[in-house]
Amino acid sequence: MTARGRFVSFEGIDGAGKSTQIAFVENWLRGRGVDVLLTREPGGTPLGESLREMILHQPMQPRTETLLMFAARCEHVLTVIEPALAAGRWVLCDRFTDATFAYQAGGRGIPEADVATLARWVHPGLQPELTVLFDIEPAIAAARLARAQRSDRFEAEQRDFFTRVREHYLARARAEPQRFVVVDTSQDKPLVQARLVDTIGRLL
Ligand code: TMP
Repeated sequence: MTARGRFVSFEGIDGAGKSTQIAFVENWLRGRGVDVLLTREPGGTPLGESLREMILHQPMQPRTETLLMFAARCEHVLTVIEPALAAGRWVLCDRFTDATFAYQAGGRGIPEADVATLARWVHPGLQPELTVLFDIEPAIAAARLARAQRSDRFEAEQRDFFTRVREHYLARARAEPQRFVVVDTSQDKPLVQARLVDTIGRLL
């Protein structure tokens, strides 16, 4: 029987430098012979990527946004994440349900209990074993985003939105210290990468 793969998620506010660091982790693991699947939310399936386009660019109510996040996640969990884990692959997920708690509950004001109910319905028993939270001051993240070309509905949000999202992420990390590792991405890249190697290396 194949051993079940490992499920690792990566989180952080927009502009935290998540993508660069995830690519580093992916390459580092591949270099060690690990069978890695890198995927993202919202997205990760053809339906999920279509939903992503809508979610990021069409105006909608916070409840609709929350439901679409979970619709995309449902398809992703059933057709991509669970089969990959069952086949023994490592799944590196660029955002998962912690993002809904941080953005839709923290940022938009959807009750946490509602997010928790949807999470239990869509992925009962599935939880990343490690969640890397890339943390940064919203002011630094905003300066990085201002240099980016195009902005979506989330990136266009005000500073206080990202302050709330960040606070919710940090509160979740404090509540589950055994699952979360908080990495300060305002540090120099070599320091961030050394921390990632140390953290991910423990799962090998
Ligand atoms: P990304 O730019 O990191 O791929 O994420 C897309 C945006 O979607 C980002 O601004 C965060 C947002 N998001 C939520 O608001 N809730 C969620 O559950 C997820 C997965 C992403």
